[in-house]
Amino acid sequence: MSDPLIVDIHTHVYPPSYIDMLRARNKVPYIHDASDGGPPRLIILSSDDDSNIPLDQRGRPVDSSYSDIKVKLDFMEKHGIDCSVISLANPWLDFIGEEQASEWAQKINDDLESTCSQVNGATEHKGRLPPLFAFGTLPLGAPQQVAVADEVHRISALSHIRGVIMGTTGRGNGLDDPELDVVWGALQDTQLMLFLHPHYGLPDEAFGGPEIVRRYGHVLPLALGFPLETTIAITRMYLSGVFDRFPKLRILLAHSGGTLPFLAGRIESCIAHERTFQVNGGDIPGPQRSIWEVLKTNIYLDAVAYGTAGLKAAVEAGGGSADRLLFGTDHPFFPPLNEKDEKWTSVTTNYKAISASFSEDQDAVVGVLGGNAVRILNLK
Ligand code: URA
Ligand code: ZN
Repeated sequence: MSDPLIVDIHTHVYPPSYIDMLRARNKVPYIHDASDGGPPRLIILSSDDDSNIPLDQRGRPVDSSYSDIKVKLDFMEKHGIDCSVISLANPWLDFIGEEQASEWAQKINDDLESTCSQVNGATEHKGRLPPLFAFGTLPLGAPQQVAVADEVHRISALSHIRGVIMGTTGRGNGLDDPELDVVWGALQDTQLMLFLHPHYGLPDEAFGGPEIVRRYGHVLPLALGFPLETTIAITRMYLSGVFDRFPKLRILLAHSGGTLPFLAGRIESCIAHERTFQVNGGDIPGPQRSIWEVLKTNIYLDAVAYGTAGLKAAVEAGGGSADRLLFGTDHPFFPPLNEKDEKWTSVTTNYKAISASFSEDQDAVVGVLGGNAVRILNLK
């Protein structure tokens, strides 16, 4: 059997124009050029912007792996990845309001499309997949929600765009905001995948306050804040009936669904025991479709779980089959701390977890590594 196709559906970029924009800012999100000749710092999380930490040490170092597509291609080669579906990294365009939002979204989306087109055109892929596709980004801060839907329709005609990446705040009021119905409608009509990704985590107080967060670096916000944020966002969507109104919406949840696979039963049980269920402040029945049905028909999960327990829960939540689970790396985040020339541990850990989870089922391994992405995202 030839080597299985490997497709990375969770892999980010900041196009150079976005990096320049971050460099010109001095509040979150921003890039700080260190005064001591050290690497520039990427300061995007609110917990990063801590005045108790010197500016030159805030956030994390940022290098060309965040913006140079050639570095992404080298990374793919090193890790045996045939094809990447690239997406703008957090916090996307969430902080760009009003008229500028649409302009930026068009710029980023056109840039992603032309990068894919140029790279694919210049690469010999020997009957395997072209190396790049993309998830676009949305002008969520545009004055009218219809502008967001218009961008969904516009990019659905671009040949390399397979979906959109979105954070959990939507237009500022979360993903159960009725204003988003027009966006869900556009995504459902175009069948573009909505890639739901965290950024804001939880308030420092949830972890014991800023001092505790600082003590453990990024561990609490990234290991716990991110997945819980995703879980809360998708649960609010579900509770507000989004999947009843848009039964064909397709949504890919980052980090194997946060904690949704583990908590789905508890969510279902709490709903069943809620005497005064009031959706959107009115006397409206709760979600009509069961969470399990939504997991099996609307939701896809990436395999960025770093362990077999998380992957097995993801499979169970999807009805026991691995055909909705898709390999990802989260590149360029989580680079090795020292071993510059080695494979990234953040990637090999996921490869190992996939093969250990499905050691009895090679078809599942082949599906998770790439076959599922090819089918679900129509990559060719
Ligand atoms: N940290 C981030 O800020 N974003 C990611 O996607 C992963 C880690
Ligand atoms: Zn990510």
